[in-house]
Amino acid sequence: MKRYLVLAVYLILVGYSIAEARIKVTGRGDKMTFSADGIPDTYKQSFDLMLVKCIKCHTMERTVIAVQTGRAPITGQPFNKQAVKAYGIKMLRKPDSNMNKKEIRDIVVLLNYFLDENSK
Ligand code: HEC
Repeated sequence: MKRYLVLAVYLILVGYSIAEARIKVTGRGDKMTFSADGIPDTYKQSFDLMLVKCIKCHTMERTVIAVQTGRAPITGQPFNKQAVKAYGIKMLRKPDSNMNKKEIRDIVVLLNYFLDENSK
């Protein structure tokens, strides 16, 4: 009996933590991306920019998973605010990234906002 109770509590907690994850995502696998729902107006421009710039070499799934799990999916490195900045610069420096510093800065600020929302 006790074991079922523990299991029930566990399931409720897991359910809560998923429901509480603030970042809205649409699609699965290669089609997975951040939802535009609830993005404050101040971030709209950066959001549109990210949707174009950050899917040039890989799908958005990579970035979504990094934000959701707090880990960069390829290297397994922590994906926190400090790391976001470093990744922004790393992506910027890649050949043919087709992004400038301002665009990277805007996207880094947006990703920091996502990290904050996700940790609420
Ligand atoms: C020019 C190609 C290119 C562009 C543009 C690009 N990426 Fe990447 N990205 C890569 C490659 C290649 C990797 C594989 C791992 C590595 O080299 O860091 C990667 C890996 C990643 C990872 C996983 C890193 C890890 O260590 O697991 C994240 C997160 C990521 N990119 C986010 C972004 C974001 C956000 C943008 C837009 C600002 C972006 N990428 C734009 C090429 C690109």
